[in-house]
Formats: sequence, C-alpha cells, structure tokens
Amino acid sequence: MILIDGKKIAAELREELKKEVSSLKTKYNKIPGLSVILIGDLTPSQIYVKNKEKFANEVGLRSEVIKYPDSVKEKVILDKISELNSNDSVSGILVQLPLPKHINKQKIIEAIAPSKDVDGFHPMNVGNLSSGYQSSIPCTPLGCYLLIKKIEPNLSGKKAVIVGRSNLNGKPMTQLLLKENCTVTITHSRTKNLKAECLEADIIVAAVGIPELVKGDWVKKDTIVIDVGINKTDKGIVGDVAFDEVSKNAKALTPVPGGVGPMTIACLLKNTIDCFKRSQI
Ligand code: GUN
Repeated sequence: MILIDGKKIAAELREELKKEVSSLKTKYNKIPGLSVILIGDLTPSQIYVKNKEKFANEVGLRSEVIKYPDSVKEKVILDKISELNSNDSVSGILVQLPLPKHINKQKIIEAIAPSKDVDGFHPMNVGNLSSGYQSSIPCTPLGCYLLIKKIEPNLSGKKAVIVGRSNLNGKPMTQLLLKENCTVTITHSRTKNLKAECLEADIIVAAVGIPELVKGDWVKKDTIVIDVGINKTDKGIVGDVAFDEVSKNAKALTPVPGGVGPMTIACLLKNTIDCFKRSQI
C-alpha cells in the first residue's frame, strides 16, 4: 500500500511556488498578495488562518490577516471586501468560514470579485468550473486531485465514487474528475447502499464528516482512497476512512493528519499566484 505523503507533496509544491513567485517578482516588479478575513475566535479557524499566513510568507507572498470580533456588522465586512476588490496589490481574498449566524454567507461570497476569489466559491467560478472554462478551483478538491494524479496520471475511464455532496468538496471534485474522463458517482447521506457503490470504485474521495465511515471491506484492491475528513473523537483526530482496515486493501491512501490538509493550504497559495498572473494579462 502506498501511504500518500501529503505533507511531502505539499512541501514540493510550495517549493515550486516559491520559485514562481521569485520569477514573477523579477518579471513584474510586484508580488502576489493574499488578504484573509477572519471573524470571531473559533479555534480551528484561527489555526487554519495562522497556517495560511505562515506558508504564504514562506513562498514569498505578501499576506495580511484582517480580524474582526464575532459581533461585527455584515456591512463592515462587505465594505472591507469592496475595498480589497479595488486594491491592486491584493491578488486574492479569502473570508474564513464558518461565519457568525448574523452574517449572510452567500452575500459575502458573492461580494468577492470573481477574479480574486481564491476559494473558488463565487457562483461565477462554480459555473465556469462546471462548464470547463477557466476558473478558480476550490483548494481542498484541487489538493485531492493533485494527490490522485501523483498516484495515477491517467484517470481516463476510471470509476470514481465521491462520498459527500458539499459545495466545498464533493461537487467541485466531481467536476475535476469528469474533466479527466472519469465516470463519477456522487453519494451522500440518502444513498441506499454506500458499501456497494464504494466497492465499484477505482478512486474514493471521502468528505462527509462521519468518523471512519468507509470500512476495509468497502474497498477493493487497487483503489486509491482520499480521506478529506477531520473528526475529533475520543481517540483523537480521525478521518472519514477507517485507516487501519482500509490500508490493508487499498492501493494508496492518505493519512489524517498529513494527507489532504497540507495540500489544501498549498493550493490556496497556488490559487493566489494564478489570480495574480491572470490579473497581469
Ligand atoms: N473553512 C474551512 N475550510 C475552508 C476553506 O477552504 N475556505 C474558507 N474560506 N473557509 C474554510
């Protein structure tokens, strides 16, 4: 079984991005910039944002984190986004989710200029991705896609089963794999026989938020299994895949932590650089 080392692959990607930032600096005499808006004091969000900033600095991006208290008014955020939209030194804007209840997520996402939407959540980018046009691609599925391609460069005709239909991962993941000519099945909480669906798969991407849902006998030999889950349990952090059981069957499997997580952040940096490049044309 191949243990997919997301930490190492993400470090390699960051190394490439660092070189790219350096050559962009020479070419344009400017560096790409990422602005992150963080509202409230949820611990996971604070950790994510800290890591985003750390790695953005490591590859040489300009980065800033703009923090607001939980009680901030929606209008303040919308005004800030509008200011960042028209600031030429800002290449990418990310508003960390989840948001406090009084702030309308859809309104916030739609306020970000599609050309600076490093999350790929704006409906314009969602539509462009599903139409096969140029778009920002959400960081988590992009990271999963790059890991899958490392193991299997030719995905044409492969059967992929996505567990979970979220906008954040399941739906964009489907688009990426369709583009690679996979046959894609999207499963979710109402799927009748999840085990039978998974047993058909050459590739499984699990992103449902149910600890260790995908079992060893759900996976045939030679399947690539990507675990997007991060679940806090009594025995610590586990994914959506029963790691020990599945590792006995799968061809390749991502660990949690150290699989998809590091790739997500590296892809955010990639998206920031890509937004910068598109803005220079
Ligand atoms: N919160 C958890 N994951 C994400 C993500 O990919 N983007 C944003 N903006 N917030 C998140």
